[in-house]
Amino acid sequence: MNKFTISALALAVAGVFNMAYAADEQPTLSVEKKAAAAKVYFERCAGCHGILRKGATGKNLEPKNTAKLGQNRLEKIISYGTEGGMVNFDDILSKDDISMMATYIQQTPDTPPEFGMKDMLASWKVMVKPEDRPTKQMNKINLKNVFSVTLRDTGEVALIDGDTKQIWGIVKTGYAVHISRLSASGRYVYVIGRDTGYGAAQEVALKIKETCAIHAEAYSSSEVLHGPLQLVTKPLLILILDTGMPLVQDSLDTAEARFRAAGGAVQRLRPADVGAEGLTPAAAAALLLTLVYPVILAVAVALGHDPDRPATLSKVTQTT
Ligand code: HEC
Repeated sequence: MNKFTISALALAVAGVFNMAYAADEQPTLSVEKKAAAAKVYFERCAGCHGILRKGATGKNLEPKNTAKLGQNRLEKIISYGTEGGMVNFDDILSKDDISMMATYIQQTPDTPPEFGMKDMLASWKVMVKPEDRPTKQMNKINLKNVFSVTLRDTGEVALIDGDTKQIWGIVKTGYAVHISRLSASGRYVYVIGRDTGYGAAQEVALKIKETCAIHAEAYSSSEVLHGPLQLVTKPLLILILDTGMPLVQDSLDTAEARFRAAGGAVQRLRPADVGAEGLTPAAAAALLLTLVYPVILAVAVALGHDPDRPATLSKVTQTT
């Protein structure tokens, strides 16, 4: 063996050793950065990639996959998105944050705080006790062909018989229903709602339309940037109802910044504006409504409408 082959061999061995070492070593973040990254992940990524990063709409982001892509490639993907449906974040996150997220997703996923069986049972309201429930089907509806339709502005869900196309029931669900899902047995429909501020916004939009005949729409702060942002190319007033819940602050901040940057007239209302602190989300939403109602009333009257008698509406909702 000449000198050259020996040193080449030594390099190759060192290379293999380095690779093995690199695979073992996880990139690191300081404790504060890691907490910040976990928050961004929960708010911006978990919806598509899953809280445990096992993948859902988006791909699996566990270290066994992300480490192969490496820091640079991950930063590019997070910044610019991909044609396969990964969204770009270069207009939402700073370069530093994108780099932090690329590092974060190469680490072992955190165990999320659990909303366990105990918490669920504590929040459970039983409307009809199990022993009082019917044991056989009490209607003639084909339960295999039922549509659950969210009646957005009224805070209800309509159940429509898919065979006859008739509405056969309207259930009060509370505002801001996001999705309906059937239970495995088909006996129950679960509806899942959003933060109460969104519910209050739907009520405000409805009342502005009803009493002032002005078009108004309610959006959650996460949806509003998908398309409605474009409306701000014409004069637009944006009213943000902020319940003060920590979890929604980032999302509201982003929406506010984007609308302001695009030239929209933004007003953000918080319970704290009138000195109210520590309210539950539902109480905060109710308070926000009491702040907005007098303004809507004044506008309606100024426009010459009678808010108690909207010209085209009757008080009775007939569904048959
Ligand atoms: C709207 C849904 C959605 C959101 C939100 C989202 N992603 Fe994705 N992501 C996807 C989809 C879909 C893909 C697969 C894209 C493809 O195959 O080209 C993907 C792919 C990726 C990939 C490439 C994975 C691979 O193996 O190729 C990375 C990395 C990634 N996302 C990181 C993130 C991070 C970090 C966030 C939050 C800052 C995030 N994503 C938020 C939908 C999303």
